[in-house]
Amino acid sequence: MPAIKNTVVIFREDPGQGWVEEKHMEVVHKDFDPDTVEIKPENVLVKTLFLSLDPYMRMRMATGAKSYIHPFQIGEPLQGTAVAEVYRAAEGSKLQKGDLVVGMVDWAEWTIVSEKGLTKVEKKADVPLSYFLGILGMPGYTAYAGLEKIGEPKAGETVYVSGAAGAVGLVVGQIAKAKGCRVIGSAGSDDKVKLLLEEANFDAAFNYKTVKSYTDALKEHCPKGIDVYWDNVGGEMLDAVLPLMNAHGRIPVCGAISQYNASEPYGVKNLSMLIKSKLKLQGFIVGDYYADRELYQRFQQEIVQWIKEKKIVYKEHVDEGIASAPSAFVGMLKGRNTGKQIVKVV
Ligand SMILES: NC(=O)c1ccc[n+]([C@@H]2O[C@H](COP(=O)([O-])OP(=O)(O)OC[C@H]3O[C@@H](n4cnc5c(N)ncnc54)[C@H](OP(=O)(O)O)[C@@H]3O)[C@@H](O)[C@H]2O)c1
Repeated sequence: MPAIKNTVVIFREDPGQGWVEEKHMEVVHKDFDPDTVEIKPENVLVKTLFLSLDPYMRMRMATGAKSYIHPFQIGEPLQGTAVAEVYRAAEGSKLQKGDLVVGMVDWAEWTIVSEKGLTKVEKKADVPLSYFLGILGMPGYTAYAGLEKIGEPKAGETVYVSGAAGAVGLVVGQIAKAKGCRVIGSAGSDDKVKLLLEEANFDAAFNYKTVKSYTDALKEHCPKGIDVYWDNVGGEMLDAVLPLMNAHGRIPVCGAISQYNASEPYGVKNLSMLIKSKLKLQGFIVGDYYADRELYQRFQQEIVQWIKEKKIVYKEHVDEGIASAPSAFVGMLKGRNTGKQIVKVV
């Protein structure tokens, strides 16, 4: 292959508080020769096929903040999980040309990475490769493990999911349905609400952007109160939910996306309901559950089976080309995506 250009997205500027914009990232084209570039021992050169864009990346753009994951470096490529194909491997590597892997790469067409961080994937019939970034990947396992370990939904209970039409929320709602719960979802457009009701089998759903009051909408759709609240958004919605939780209710705090680009954090007022209603409110990071191999294998088997049996639907919003990643990322944070936000690179 002759020398080519590697298109890479560089982190240019910390957005500070408020909205991240495309100007905080820069698309550059670097001279690159995949056949001659040096690959150090234990490293491989991979070609990105599908790149995952995820809300947590917004937190990695806060360069001074303390978080569970280190911030992106100004002037360096942004990074994310991808499905990639091995192009060349260092001598002695367990991987070889053509192997498909999932792992952390640059927002780029080509990346040299340590093979230690890569997991080989077997292409499964009926399952698109990009699903290893969504329903069969980190967002799917977030839903599966968070429900099992914290939400613990039981048949007949009411489960409310915010951010319900996204990568995680869609899976949460459908697993809860499979367990015999009554499932209510909220999302930010009428089309997303339609998807939840007509394709994802939710019992009720509402557009949180057009309802007059979160409390009234929740009272209408959850007349028996809420037993499990899957919190993807935090802030005002969490505040509205707390007084409507039934005794001994569980709240897996998965995310707080309403706060990631907020100029001022929202102060939740109803935390005393935790005492009155004896609630469990627990945050978690999916990464902590990968060590539970039994849970992880059960997740993989069960979800693949449900996909094959068409018991679960999944959606993706796919943008094309690595240069589209900055606009796709901003768009995802603003709710342009339905289901998992993916960039198809090759
Ligand atoms: N704890 C963990 O380990 C873990 C793992 C994965 C994800 N998460 C968290 O889970 C949540 C969902 O992640 P995801 O990957 O499934 O993303 P996603 O839902 O596919 O995409 C983000 C969605 O958030 C919604 N949103 C944006 N601003 C909002 C606001 N102010 N209020 C309510 N909704 C808003 C938008 O949908 P609308 O059109 O509905 O507004 C947007 O489509 C995020 O908070 C993420 O950080 C946590």
